[in-house]
Amino acid sequence: MSSTPIGIGLLGYGTVGSAVDRLLTARQADVERVVGAPVEVRRALVRNVNAPRSVEPRPGLLTDDFSAIRDDPSIAVVAEVMGGVSPTREWMLELFAAGKSVVTANKQLLARHGAELFAAAEANGVQLRFEASVCAAIPVVKVLRESMIASEVNAVLGIVNGTTNFMLTKMADGADYATVLAEAQRLGYAEADPTEDVTGGDAAAKVAILASIAFHTQVTIDDVPHEGIDTLDSVDVAFANDLGYSVKLIGQARRVEAGVVVGVAPTLVPHAHPLSGVNGSFNAVMLRGDAIREVTLVGPGAGGDETASAVIGDLMGVLGTSGTGFPRTAGVFRDLPLVPADDVESALYIRLDVKDEPGVLARIAAILADEAVSIDSVVQRASEGRAQLVIVTHTAPEGAARRAISSIEATGVCASRPVTLRVLAAS
Ligand code: NAP
Ligand code: HSE
Repeated sequence: MSSTPIGIGLLGYGTVGSAVDRLLTARQADVERVVGAPVEVRRALVRNVNAPRSVEPRPGLLTDDFSAIRDDPSIAVVAEVMGGVSPTREWMLELFAAGKSVVTANKQLLARHGAELFAAAEANGVQLRFEASVCAAIPVVKVLRESMIASEVNAVLGIVNGTTNFMLTKMADGADYATVLAEAQRLGYAEADPTEDVTGGDAAAKVAILASIAFHTQVTIDDVPHEGIDTLDSVDVAFANDLGYSVKLIGQARRVEAGVVVGVAPTLVPHAHPLSGVNGSFNAVMLRGDAIREVTLVGPGAGGDETASAVIGDLMGVLGTSGTGFPRTAGVFRDLPLVPADDVESALYIRLDVKDEPGVLARIAAILADEAVSIDSVVQRASEGRAQLVIVTHTAPEGAARRAISSIEATGVCASRPVTLRVLAAS
């Protein structure tokens, strides 16, 4: 055991950064036992050192000068917990050039510039670890990168955003959208700009990272079509519930014959499905592959302490390995094509606001049949000459189902735009 302390630098001292500092201090003795030397947070970068904070940091900890961390030879590793793409990217590159390893919670940065950053870390002989960037406390990155090397993973799917899962859970009990979004922000679950959460952008970044490490092929956020819960109508959540489904924001990355298909969308999940019962800010990721069959990881997907736990795990991982560590920093070595969602088969929930007249249902059924889309169930609620027609289809190519919906709209029977949601298979 060495008594010379190892210095840590923090870029950011907000929800996650302050929790890293607090947990490292609280668990000092355990950390020292694992690492073999005391570990200390030396400096933490913020925008405003004088801003009021819920817990007063110790004197001299905060700085607004990045070079005070980059150029401090006593800082061995830096945790990037400030978020944003710029200047974060440029500063990370400067840290690598200065010989410092970095652990990050920043999914937006990795989903945009991951290839460049991993290459730069490797070129400088340092590490870039990122467990906290996906699903906070759930160690899914470690499991995919280290524990599943012997398996060909062919699907990663699940709930990867804590804010929206928290909101959907509360909204299913009758709470309103704006109130629950404000609560998620107060609890430290939401991004600095919560638009990223509610529009599916946060989940899309995580799907890009998960797809890249599961399939060893570069997937960026621009490759991930995404919808969020901001356009979801509570009427559809109620209909779905009556039909035996919960509505969850599901992120998916699948290996198909032609390559990789990725996406994020509000999705109907059968009540009996394991993802249906994952509530609040919890996330769950199902990993499917040849040798592993199916592994589901469930746990807190957002929050200061929960994310700090993953950041500290990565910090200890860096300190516990030498050189570029294991596994190697750059895990991308394939170039699989991305497959459009239209070419992939799924079941759909379709809600049509139609005239309650003879022959309407028959016309709609005929149009679906023309596209070889078969109907699994139909529910109709009629009032005052109109009907809400909810159709759940059997599995069909999404492109065919969407063509059928456009043809139905073109007949003029719909009073408003049809609502379409994906339905997850029961298993
Ligand atoms: P936060 O509470 O908004 O904290 C951000 C911190 O970074 C603040 O201390 C801020 O300084 C500092 N900062 C931001 N931009 C800066 C700049 N240009 N120069 C200097 N300092 C800057 O955010 P957070 O919730 O901790 O999230 C941080 C990162 O963790 C993000 O990448 C986020 O996506 C990720 N993450 C968050 C969670 C979660 O549940 N919160 C979970 C997983 C991952 P001031 O204090 O002066 O404003
Ligand atoms: N805002 C993110 C979420 C934080 O709610 O999932 C965790 O990445």
